[in-house]
Amino acid sequence: MANRIKIFDTTLRDGEQSPGCSMNLQEKLEVAVQLEKLNVDVIEAGFAIASPGDFESVCEIAKAVKNAAVASLCRAVEQDIDRAYEAVRHAVHPRIHTFLATSPIHMKYKLKMSEDEVLERTGYAVAYAKKYCGDVEFSAEDASRSDKEFLARVFSKAIACGATVINIPDTVGYSSPEEMAAYISYVKNYVNGIEKAEISVHCHNDLGLAVSNTLASIRAGATQIECTINGIGERAGNTSLEEVVMNLRTRKDYYSAECGIDIKQIYRSSKLIQTITGVPIAPNKAIVGDNAFVHEAGIHQHGVLAERSTYEIMTPQEIGIPQKKMALGKHSGRHAFGERLTELGYSLSPQEIDNAFARFKILADKKKVISNGDLDALVAMKLEPVNQHYMLDNFIINSGSKITATSTISLKVDDTIIEKVASGDGPVDAAYKAINTIINKKIELDDYSIHAATEGEDALGEVIVKLTLDDKKAVGRAVSTDIIEASILAYLNGVNKL
Ligand code: KIV
Ligand code: ZN
Repeated sequence: MANRIKIFDTTLRDGEQSPGCSMNLQEKLEVAVQLEKLNVDVIEAGFAIASPGDFESVCEIAKAVKNAAVASLCRAVEQDIDRAYEAVRHAVHPRIHTFLATSPIHMKYKLKMSEDEVLERTGYAVAYAKKYCGDVEFSAEDASRSDKEFLARVFSKAIACGATVINIPDTVGYSSPEEMAAYISYVKNYVNGIEKAEISVHCHNDLGLAVSNTLASIRAGATQIECTINGIGERAGNTSLEEVVMNLRTRKDYYSAECGIDIKQIYRSSKLIQTITGVPIAPNKAIVGDNAFVHEAGIHQHGVLAERSTYEIMTPQEIGIPQKKMALGKHSGRHAFGERLTELGYSLSPQEIDNAFARFKILADKKKVISNGDLDALVAMKLEPVNQHYMLDNFIINSGSKITATSTISLKVDDTIIEKVASGDGPVDAAYKAINTIINKKIELDDYSIHAATEGEDALGEVIVKLTLDDKKAVGRAVSTDIIEASILAYLNGVNKL
């Protein structure tokens, strides 16, 4: 019989911790809703004590999520554990996830604690967490560089004090698949009470082995794996959920393991994370990259046409990549529009469909046919706050190879129209300078990217900007057939979030 592997998703904690991936509360909730659709077993919603914003997000996610367990990370100290429980206590299935390092290098230089002190603190922290919550996970940070015999004593203590899950992180992405497997086997053989706990792994991708190490751990007996959508995470990232899940499914003959993920939601989940974080993935990324199912070589195309299995081990339909269908146009009605969104895997409220339909009609006046890609882009804009403080009223741009670019921007700020003129290094810079004069704040533009969101000559241009105001960061995005308009709207989208 196949082993059931639990999927612990840490996109909202380890993933969100990575550079350029921070999300606001509304975005985190949107991700949590999608993770439920994906049917993950555990959602690690954040690190509650890290900031008031993190605490609020964990609380709100705990209240919103119905099926998955909701975990908060915390160090092995009382005030962290108190805060973690306070944040997850409204969850249907709350989990406290506490951690302490066990490698010689971390104990000596970071914790300045002896083995005995680490052992004692582990027991204390797990028992303290257990008073609040039946489900307690204990992670031995930097486990893959720890002494196995000591690690086994730490885990035995954690289980004796009530841990329901013990986690073996390859914190710095140092391990090899064989070594990870050896850790799992050792833990299975030498940890007292191990039959009462789940064995979990958490692998980082510094040497490009996170997925391989996770799969080797499953073969050796791990029953929970920690991962993120698109593999986002600290430094080179974490284990990519979609890659592990599709390995288990495609090579069930080899891994004899299965999980509860609804794989039809994989593509949508990946797109959502790209949209929210503004971090694109490489076209050749396994499973969800743009080229993952594209056969370019004639010999491959011929083979696939003759018999799909010659070159295809998975299908794009399986993971929910929408198939090309009749395009919608300006005469399409709200009903056909709504049905197409459902087919694409969206479940929007009637109000959200109305908003997207209004944007669809405007776009349909500019473009003859509206593709599935256009619809994705239109729906992604629903993440914008409804009542934006700064709204674009009008813009006029003058630019050319022999003149300095100038812009006239008018914004609706509450109910007043404010207009300013500015010049700059090109049309986008001129527009942003005029906006900055209107809003009178020191916004920094950290990153600007533009690409065609859809295909064809009348493709929608998608602009993603990353902005900073004091210590706050936000990602702004917008699409338009006019790339200057997309640039201005993306900037305003980011400014409104800030
Ligand atoms: O990488 C790591 O060790 C972690 C733990 C806190 C689980 O993220
Ligand atoms: Zn980690």
